[in-house]
Amino acid sequence: MPVLVAPELPAGRLTRLAQPTLATSSPAGPVTVRPWAAADAPAVLDAYADPAIQQWHVRSMTSDEAHAWVAHWPGRWADETGAGWAVEADGVVAGQVSVRRLELAEAWAEISYWVLPHARGRGIAPAALDAVTGWLVSEVGILRASLTHSTRNPASCRVATKAGYLPEGTLRRQGRHADGWHDMHVHARLADLGADGA
Ligand SMILES: CC(C)(COP(=O)(O)OP(=O)(O)OC[C@H]1O[C@@H](n2cnc3c(N)ncnc32)[C@H](O)[C@@H]1OP(=O)(O)O)[C@@H](O)C(=O)NCCC(=O)NCCS
Repeated sequence: MPVLVAPELPAGRLTRLAQPTLATSSPAGPVTVRPWAAADAPAVLDAYADPAIQQWHVRSMTSDEAHAWVAHWPGRWADETGAGWAVEADGVVAGQVSVRRLELAEAWAEISYWVLPHARGRGIAPAALDAVTGWLVSEVGILRASLTHSTRNPASCRVATKAGYLPEGTLRRQGRHADGWHDMHVHARLADLGADGA
């Protein structure tokens, strides 16, 4: 059956680009958003040992799995299904931002992030989220970047709001966590609307 709407972005739109390194800053200092390297696997292992990251990202990892997780991102880029960046501050891995889902035909990306416990409370996640979103909009042509977080995770709500992702509503019992179903809050940033939605 014919599709009656042309793709907003063609296949190949991501792979024609090299994954960038983005320099930005948080209120606490410079932040670098860069592709993952094999040497980052121990930091990823530490991250997924943290109870809060386990709680909100609903997974743990062995060392082998952390190496495989770091190594799988170039394949996601090549398939145009996602992208992952390490977020570095003070010369060490502080966190990550990733495009967990990408629909080029719809010019839509869904974003995820975490920050290691030692780096929290310095505005690193909003800075990195803003940098990745700006790049997705200006270089890839993404029109809508969205994210969801549990309504029981106010810190993530603050990150989204500070990075210009306006709240759009609540998906009831949409997120399955270790302690059961959570209502999920949706936020999005649209390419043609400012942070105030106008
Ligand atoms: C949510 C998270 C990404 C925030 O990252 P961050 O770089 O600390 O972000 P910020 O510094 O902007 O802080 C965001 C909020 O976290 C809370 N916070 C501040 N200091 C904190 C600390 N030391 N530890 C935990 N939370 C803190 C505050 O509510 C803050 O909001 P405010 O700036 O309005 O006071 C990070 O806490 C995290 O990775 N948590 C566990 C995993 C997670 O929740 N991922 C998101 C799933 S949707």
